[in-house]
Amino acid sequence: MNIAATKDPVSPVQEVASPADWSPESWQNFPALQQATYPDQEALDRALGKLADLPPLVTSWEILALREQIAEAQQGKRFVLQGGDCAESFADCTSPLITNRLKVLLQMSLALVHGLQMPVVRIGRLAGQYAKPRSSDFETRDGVTLPSYRGDLVNSIDFNEAARIPDPDLLLKAHAYSAMTMNFVRSLVDGGFADVHHTEYWDLSWLDHSPLADEFHKLTESLGQSLRFMETITGRDVGSLRRVDFFTSHEALHLHFEQAQTRQVPRQWGWFNLGTHFPWIGMRTADLEGAHVEYFRGIRNPIGIKVGPGLDRSWLEALLEKLNPQREYGRIVLIHRMGETNIEDKLPGLIRAVNDNGSPVLWIADPMHGNTDSTGDVNKTRRFRKIKNEMDLAFEIHRDNHSRLGGVHLELTGENVTECTGGARDLSDEDLKREYRSTVDPRLNYEQSLEMAMLIVRKHAQNAS
Ligand code: PEP
Ligand code: CO
Repeated sequence: MNIAATKDPVSPVQEVASPADWSPESWQNFPALQQATYPDQEALDRALGKLADLPPLVTSWEILALREQIAEAQQGKRFVLQGGDCAESFADCTSPLITNRLKVLLQMSLALVHGLQMPVVRIGRLAGQYAKPRSSDFETRDGVTLPSYRGDLVNSIDFNEAARIPDPDLLLKAHAYSAMTMNFVRSLVDGGFADVHHTEYWDLSWLDHSPLADEFHKLTESLGQSLRFMETITGRDVGSLRRVDFFTSHEALHLHFEQAQTRQVPRQWGWFNLGTHFPWIGMRTADLEGAHVEYFRGIRNPIGIKVGPGLDRSWLEALLEKLNPQREYGRIVLIHRMGETNIEDKLPGLIRAVNDNGSPVLWIADPMHGNTDSTGDVNKTRRFRKIKNEMDLAFEIHRDNHSRLGGVHLELTGENVTECTGGARDLSDEDLKREYRSTVDPRLNYEQSLEMAMLIVRKHAQNAS
């Protein structure tokens, strides 16, 4: 059968022709941006060899299950919640931080399930989100120039020469820390993690500070009631009713690291990245002729593509053609991150291009990365008001252009940090000095994240009416 001749979208598990001239290392023939330069090639090869022998973090059947869920989201039957740190760090791989991160994502997802009346696909930016793109290869302080910090996968944030030289052993350490994170997340999820299902245990003290306090109280009360109702009719704790699905994601930036985890498995065709369920291509590495697009072309995982204001219609069409030539459902998630000032100008044309093209995608909104402000101080921040505004505009623009916003992508943490201003407690620039912990981008804190989930529910309902 000549599969390439058909342009009808195909199911996520159907076998299609594997891409021609592709192998896990074929990306090496293309220009690779944002890669670390290791001084000792032999040490790098040794580390990568070991990495390739270690057991994987995820399985092919989990990846295929996620593809099916994304395919359903593409048909309007599910909503995607993707969230977590801008960058994970080894220091943050602790029990309370992981527990709180999972807790906030699960609580948000319950609010969304209840408010949107549809299942939510939960994807953490975790268990491998250790590599960061940088605007410059070097950083200079007080006349001293050193390689930029590229995430704990590559080097360390301390500003001295030994810390900043890329260290291949960190690739193995990142794999081990990802496995520890994954192991703990799986145990928490398997154990039911019962208190997330009881809204009386949620920290909702911020609600009273919100101008929408009454509306939000009603939402949490009805959510609590419906969870209790479920328990009454089944006679079981909601937490133990069904193991919730939880998937992992990271920006697949460091291509040697990704290649070492790209494998074939028995009784399945094709290649899988078994280091994560859902890798995404960052905005800076989406070049059509670049190594990252070449790498992504050949793996069977569902993939995210960050869509920034610089990406035009023909570039997007070419990416879809290259990354999903057979038009498979469940394969492509477009994560637009325009900024509140650009979204009205840039997004409609891209939506129309995708509609005209007919290739199946899921659109989700990242209202964080286009809205980063500097405060005059050393800290970067994001204004809750702008994040919400981009979110609201995203819902409206999709509706007005015969499309559907099928999810959100947020940088958040389960702690009450002070990195983004605004929200119900109206954090100010002054507050940023108190609990600013991120070494990279500012994250929504626990309260701001729950508030954002409730605002999404509110906007979703308004948009539908
Ligand atoms: C990120 O998601 O942390 C990131 C760097 O995003 P983008 O590629 O959209 O700038
Ligand atoms: Co970020």
